[in-house]
Amino acid sequence: MRTLLRLWPYVRPVRARLFSAAFVAILASCVGLVIPLVLKWLVDGPVADHDPGGVWLGALFLLLLGFTEALLFGLRRWLVARPLSHVEASMRAALYRHLQRLPVAFHDRWASGQLLSRGTTDLMLLRQFLAFPLTFLLVNGVTILVGVVIMLLQDWTLGLVVLGPAVPLMVTCVIFEKRYAKVARLAQDQVGDLTTVVEESVLGIRVIKGFGRHRSQARAFRELSGTLRGTELRKARLLATIWGVIVTLPEVAIGAALVVGVAQVADGALSAGTLVAFLSTALALRWPVESIGFLLAMSQEAATATERYFEVMDEGVEDPGAAAAAPNAEDEGLRFDNVRFRYPDAPPGSAPVLDGVTLHIRPGESMALVGATGSGKTTLTALIPRLYELTSGRITLDGVDIAALSREALRTKVAVAFEEPTLFSAGVGDNVLMGTDGTAGERELERALSVAQADFVHALPQGTQTRVGEQGLSLSGGQRQRLALARAVVGQPEFLVLDDPLSALDVHTEAAVEAALRQVLADTTALIVAHRPSTVLLADRVALLSGGRITAVGTHQELLRSNAEYAHLMSGEQSGEQSGEQSGQEEGAR
Ligand SMILES: Nc1ncnc2c1ncn2[C@@H]1O[C@H](COP(=O)(O)OP(=O)(O)O)[C@@H](O)[C@H]1O
Ligand SMILES: [Mg+2]
Repeated sequence: MRTLLRLWPYVRPVRARLFSAAFVAILASCVGLVIPLVLKWLVDGPVADHDPGGVWLGALFLLLLGFTEALLFGLRRWLVARPLSHVEASMRAALYRHLQRLPVAFHDRWASGQLLSRGTTDLMLLRQFLAFPLTFLLVNGVTILVGVVIMLLQDWTLGLVVLGPAVPLMVTCVIFEKRYAKVARLAQDQVGDLTTVVEESVLGIRVIKGFGRHRSQARAFRELSGTLRGTELRKARLLATIWGVIVTLPEVAIGAALVVGVAQVADGALSAGTLVAFLSTALALRWPVESIGFLLAMSQEAATATERYFEVMDEGVEDPGAAAAAPNAEDEGLRFDNVRFRYPDAPPGSAPVLDGVTLHIRPGESMALVGATGSGKTTLTALIPRLYELTSGRITLDGVDIAALSREALRTKVAVAFEEPTLFSAGVGDNVLMGTDGTAGERELERALSVAQADFVHALPQGTQTRVGEQGLSLSGGQRQRLALARAVVGQPEFLVLDDPLSALDVHTEAAVEAALRQVLADTTALIVAHRPSTVLLADRVALLSGGRITAVGTHQELLRSNAEYAHLMSGEQSGEQSGEQSGQEEGAR
């Protein structure tokens, strides 16, 4: 109950419709309960008196009542359908908005399939709950109450006989509710896991096929769906049990009432009409009572869905950040000041990835960042646009602490090209223009494409309008990387952060991109993660990241001479990047 109450803010806007629908449904049910009373009048009056006119009149009246009941139920459905799809849509929109504002650390922790299933299946369950069980639990409750009062008024001894099973029924319902809650939660979580597997295997279809893993992947899927099937069967068994109890007990009670009632009529203690009315009232209450089983089940699923929905909604979003503080005029450029960072989901007690990074990149300067794989280069770049929060220390842009900038302002100042160039299923041009605030046009797009040497775009069937498939998989790795680079430079940012932006390019394209990038780098402050000497040579100075801190800063030549670790990293012995390394050394020699 308490969980479901949290839905109120979303339901509030449509409360008038929902309440009138419930009222109409109660009215319809009560109209249904009048039918037995007309029957009683028919049996004791016109039928007993052999009055055909009266019988016709009674029949006509019954017909009219039936029509009214049907019309009212139709009206109820019409009342709720539109507003409830609106509730579902607004909850879904709120979830999506929230997901976009949740920090990257949240998304590191949560499987995408879990989020997907919450946004789809769970919300559908909620809409169904609001449309049906919510109203009918109320309506059936009122109907049962009114019906019981009518039965007791007809004949209170018969009434008590029929009411006999009420207490065992309620106890069963409570037990059922508890057990069903657990299984329902399990099933919904398992749907989320299953969604994750499907999503991963669709996105990773190339790897799966390439390694011939489709059998083992199918097996993993089969196992998970088998588990889910088991859970669903447990749900079905629980439902079958409660259904059995809920149907049998009242049926037995009605049978007993029939026996007692017939005996009373035979003794002349009860009129035949009253018995007919009594039994038809009891039969009219059968559906409201029987439906309680699955109404409770549906409500339980809705409560679970609400719980799962709010688990995501209750996660704290990134605070927007304060308005910019006053800059310290002497302190320009990009400065890391004793920055420490450990991932929020890292095992407790493990060493931080960055442990006291101090580095100053002067205004307009380009700094290359070099370090072994896993030394924390990507992590360091992610801290600048505040994708993660520093554990301690500070980063300043032109003297302003990034923690004091609003995220929006910060992210307009800083542009990033990530290691994995992610593209969206949109046009090539739109993918690049994501890097601007929306004011950039054709000219900026062309300039960015030419800096990134992404002229291949013009050879695509519809030029910059060509849509790239999901995640841009219809393009080559190098092409994607160049588009990501174009996206980073299109907005002419003050600060540019590039995480190994040229790794997938061939030597010639790399050289061409470097030549064009030089002009861009001339008037931006940049941090460029680099593995090859050729990329390092783009920068004015190089910083070496090792053991969580910056251990050396200087020009490429200085570090080659003075730092053994740097010389080793650049020597090419450790990797197969022969071609890039050679071209770099040529350039170095020049
Ligand atoms: N999201 C994350 N959660 C926890 N640990 C992470 C996460 N991303 C990276 N790491 C860890 O941080 C370390 C540095 O990673 P990374 O910055 O990607 O290195 P580099 O880019 O220098 O190769 C690695 O040991 C990696 O396992
Ligand atoms: Mg990296």
